[in-house]
Amino acid sequence: MRRTNPFKPTAGRMPPLLVGRGPVLDDFEEGLENGPGAPGRLMRVTGARGVGKTVILTEFGRMARARKWDVIDETASDGLAQRLLERIEPPRRLFSLSVKPSVELSGVGGVSLREAKVSSQQMPLTLRDAMARRLDVLERKHAGLLITVDEAQAARREGMVAIATAVQHMIREERDIAFVFAGLPTISSKWLNDEVLTFLRRAQAEPLGDVPLTEVRDAFDETFHDSGIAIAGEALKLAVEATAGYPFMIQLVGYHVWRVAYRKHRDESEVSVSVDDAREGIRDAMARLGDTVHGPEMDGLSAVDKTYLLAMAQDDGPSSTSEIAKRMNKNIGYANMYRTRLIEAQVIKDVGYGLVDFAIPYLREYLREHAAYIRMSAQ
Ligand SMILES: Nc1ncnc2c1ncn2[C@@H]1O[C@H](COP(=O)(O)OP(=O)(O)OP(=O)(O)O)[C@@H](O)[C@H]1O
Ligand SMILES: [Mg+2]
Repeated sequence: MRRTNPFKPTAGRMPPLLVGRGPVLDDFEEGLENGPGAPGRLMRVTGARGVGKTVILTEFGRMARARKWDVIDETASDGLAQRLLERIEPPRRLFSLSVKPSVELSGVGGVSLREAKVSSQQMPLTLRDAMARRLDVLERKHAGLLITVDEAQAARREGMVAIATAVQHMIREERDIAFVFAGLPTISSKWLNDEVLTFLRRAQAEPLGDVPLTEVRDAFDETFHDSGIAIAGEALKLAVEATAGYPFMIQLVGYHVWRVAYRKHRDESEVSVSVDDAREGIRDAMARLGDTVHGPEMDGLSAVDKTYLLAMAQDDGPSSTSEIAKRMNKNIGYANMYRTRLIEAQVIKDVGYGLVDFAIPYLREYLREHAAYIRMSAQ
């Protein structure tokens, strides 16, 4: 028997089923449907690492293409506006049969009409004109343009200003455009308090969170079944609970439980996941979560950040911030500086009444397990 594992525990990869995202997909679909000015045409998607922002943008792209729209997806980093510009209006080449070799300017490969980088002062207007020209063509075909920007928290202010200004004009002119940006929740404090970017604050907020376990259950049931391996009863229950509703963990648990069951029972005609298979797969998934999420997250933190987290990991639930300061042997003001940083980094969250808790599933368990090593590297 040869079956392929349907789960995709890889960042940005489309899962077999987009679990629990019906409402946000409906909002976008309505936006496309209802025409210029509909709220779903200007959206900001926020959420922690691994919650499924990138795959939502991919799905939006698919929905827009199904309506014959053009889709441009970009990831924020230096030169974002320039790249966007070049994709909205690809630079034309000077060379064509009608151009004499004597006008060759650079010799190799041709020269684009817009070879020089557009200055940041010119960028808003240049982008706006380019969008308008592209939309002229699309709207004649009753189509539109979707622009998505991923990792928006990493964008430079200038680039965001240019894009926001241009998109704002297109929306005001009732053009067939949709603009969606996605990023960590810190974009709210980074961009939305900026005077020039108030336009972005009006974007429909779609905060992505954990997925309800009932939906995870249905998705596991269906995905396992369709792949020829049954899962039910206690095994299903264990697998569902182990995901904690965290989308990346849905893929990890699904992938490893499926893998264990397949390896053990591939020669049987009817494969089903046993409770032991589920336990083993969940252990593998947890280890992977550590390697792919917790480990890299720790690497990006300072020594004191790690000390703060280790102090938190001593508790079984939310930690008192004053108690953490005591454990760290520091005053509250000092400890709170790290508390704020860790909240901004989405590693912990404020749960009120002077309490904080971990924002990443199973981080507590990971820290306890690796405490000795982390303490050493935090020296
Ligand atoms: N709704 C969902 N249902 C099931 N699996 C999902 C869902 N959303 C995302 N996933 C899976 O979770 C993993 C992470 O998704 P994705 O890369 O889109 O997250 P992200 O929010 O963009 O993370 P990052 O902030 O690190 O870029 C992928 O393996 C993806 O297949
Ligand atoms: Mg992503």
